[in-house]
Amino acid sequence: MNDDLQSRIEDAVKNPRNLGEMKDADAIGTVGSADCGDMLRMWVKFKEEGGRKVIDRATFQTFGCQTAIAVASVATEMLAGKTVAEAQSMSGEELAAPLGPLPPVKIHCAQLVEGALRSALSGETVSENKMPPTGSTLLGQLNAGQSPERKVKIVLDN
Ligand code: FES
Repeated sequence: MNDDLQSRIEDAVKNPRNLGEMKDADAIGTVGSADCGDMLRMWVKFKEEGGRKVIDRATFQTFGCQTAIAVASVATEMLAGKTVAEAQSMSGEELAAPLGPLPPVKIHCAQLVEGALRSALSGETVSENKMPPTGSTLLGQLNAGQSPERKVKIVLDN
């Protein structure tokens, strides 16, 4: 990992944004990584804005590494004001973009954030043409080609 990325991650970990449980959340998503065994939970609150339902705020908790904390911190900041469809179409790479490109060994940490977000939003109505292609989700990617006992288990709280 290069020094710039390392210092951006350390800054985000020192002062993480939107960390903690949200008591009045409208949606909750929890995902575990088959790669490392870490877990991340995201809470999302919606609001109406200009006749559209958008994300008011998002918070997270994780038993994940520093990269997962840093990605969740920057991602939850970016999510405010996005519609469900816009948020669901964001890849782990896009959610981690403020930190800069992640090394291959850390990409699954951003996918943990993507998976928790999609899990939280999965109860929402998304128009067909905005849905990500099959297999592009964290779960789809992790489960592709894996034996049943290695499949990711997602626990929804709502
Ligand atoms: Fe598990 Fe980063 S190593 S989320």
